[in-house]
Amino acid sequence: MDARLVLRAVDISAGISRPQADQRPVGGLVPGQAESLRAAAMEPGAAARFLAGRAALRRFAGDILDVPAHKLTAAYSCPRCGAGPALSHGRPGFTYHGQPVPLLLSMARAGGWVLLAGLTSPAAGERLGIDAEDPARLAFDGFDAVALADEEKQALAGLAGPSLFRERARLWTRKEAWLKMTGEGLRTDPREVAVLDKPELKDLPANATGLPASLVAAAALG
Ligand SMILES: CC(C)(COP(=O)(O)OP(=O)(O)OC[C@H]1O[C@@H](n2cnc3c(N)ncnc32)[C@H](O)[C@@H]1OP(=O)(O)O)[C@@H](O)C(=O)NCCC(=O)NCCS
Repeated sequence: MDARLVLRAVDISAGISRPQADQRPVGGLVPGQAESLRAAAMEPGAAARFLAGRAALRRFAGDILDVPAHKLTAAYSCPRCGAGPALSHGRPGFTYHGQPVPLLLSMARAGGWVLLAGLTSPAAGERLGIDAEDPARLAFDGFDAVALADEEKQALAGLAGPSLFRERARLWTRKEAWLKMTGEGLRTDPREVAVLDKPELKDLPANATGLPASLVAAAALG
């Protein structure tokens, strides 16, 4: 993987018993207004996971940039909705003293963990996406029909049980990493994103991410 890529896995399971979304600090950081508004529309467990992930991402960016995390302002961007501090969804980013920071960021939550990725000194037009998944979540009939391209279904032929679920997760994380890299997300039909051979995609083993070995992860850089 690219030497500029920084990965960090954070266990957020302890922080997700928070009873309700509000302006209290999460992980020592006060959520931004757009983050608090989005959290307020979620059920309590989801809000706590959301805010814990956002706090972990802000701390991660501050550590990489060597600036105080509380001085970073979230600045998300979405191909449909635009960009700026009022946007609560889309591709993550930050400003520092009003200027966009020179760092590509991506993140995913899975199984009580958040996986964070940062790319320092990005070239113009470079894009980053990352994803993580618990294979147990994909252990249901019908996954292949809604998620996979024909050649991907063929690649799974003969697999069953845990090895099937793990290979599904490998393909799924590659798709989501790709769709976060492009910024389109699941507005694009995942069956149309064939991920067996894309050179921009890399599977990320647990010893590269710090995630538990039960989880599967992938990154897209291009
Ligand atoms: C990208 C997407 C597939 C990830 O969903 P998921 O599996 O539930 O969540 P994950 O934990 O893997 O990743 C969530 C993170 O992906 C990132 N992300 C979300 N949308 C993104 C996009 N369009 N481009 C790049 N990254 C994106 C964010 O950092 C998000 O973190 P947040 O919840 O703190 O905002 C999903 O959010 C999606 O399809 N989004 C596009 C559609 C959309 O947002 N529509 C509404 C507004 S137009």
